[in-house]
Amino acid sequence: MTDHDIRRTRVHTPDLPEHDPDDPAESAVIAGLARSWPRRAAVKKPEVDLDALFEPHRSDFPEQMLPFAEHPRYLALDEPQQARLRAWAWIAYNKSVVDIEQYVVNPGFALITADVFGFGPSDTVVTGVLQAMVDEQYHTLMHQQANALTRRRRGWALPESVLPLCPTVRRQRTAVAQADDPRAAALVQLAYTTVAETSISAYLALLTGDAALQPVNRATVAVHRRDELCHASLAGGLLTAVLTELDDTDQVVLLDALGAAVAAFTGADTSTWAAILAHEQVPGGDELVADTIASTDGRPVVQDCSAIRRLCAALGLGDELDARWPWPS
Ligand SMILES: [Fe+2]
Ligand SMILES: [Fe+2]
Repeated sequence: MTDHDIRRTRVHTPDLPEHDPDDPAESAVIAGLARSWPRRAAVKKPEVDLDALFEPHRSDFPEQMLPFAEHPRYLALDEPQQARLRAWAWIAYNKSVVDIEQYVVNPGFALITADVFGFGPSDTVVTGVLQAMVDEQYHTLMHQQANALTRRRRGWALPESVLPLCPTVRRQRTAVAQADDPRAAALVQLAYTTVAETSISAYLALLTGDAALQPVNRATVAVHRRDELCHASLAGGLLTAVLTELDDTDQVVLLDALGAAVAAFTGADTSTWAAILAHEQVPGGDELVADTIASTDGRPVVQDCSAIRRLCAALGLGDELDARWPWPS
């Protein structure tokens, strides 16, 4: 093999051994996901020419998803001002996804690959989790590129530095800091990762069903969502394995953290809109934010976390979780 051949060679994931039924952490689902990754993952597919998909007359974000879409202060804005706020909503949506991938999901997955919980994950489990971490890094790139494209094609600055850290990440950091010891902190991180991974596809689906939306944006979200449907199975398998192995004390810590994580992921995010409206100097922006907080306060608005409920119920822990978070009926 010449130097030229070596430079052209991509490293292939070697064939994985058959599923080991004696390894409690290695479900058949995780083994199947690890084997299929080279064929199904977005990072393994040819790149799409996003510029060619951009249609300037299309909206960057579904107007009905703006929390103040029917507020008189919003309706009083002219169309270019409303279009800027829709573009901001898309920028903020992407930043929220990126914050969660970078600061919640991948650090949580790394606890498994580093065997922080001491379960000795098999090569197949470590491979499956590392593949998901590669996916998350690629998703981060995809959403960053989507924002760069929006800024470039619209000709608007829309700087992400205006936006606060995603509220879910802030809540996760507070919970980790308040944990009693490093092991409890790791369990809290795992809980937030698991809730993120089992609910993000619902968050992404909010944008894939709007036929009038900017095609680039729909494509970005749809490609990401295909990976996340697999990650939900991976995270569910990992949670089942960990919950089964933990002693009673650790199990309580993890269940407490799952309840707190569900509350965090389903909470409203008005700090982001407050920052955007202030930056845009929208007339009556303070009133808009106050009314939005009043109208969304206490209502779960963002993500469908019912998968966590089903996973815990399958382990006979559904009532334990219900006691920690008031599920809407
Ligand atoms: Fe992702
Ligand atoms: Fe994921």
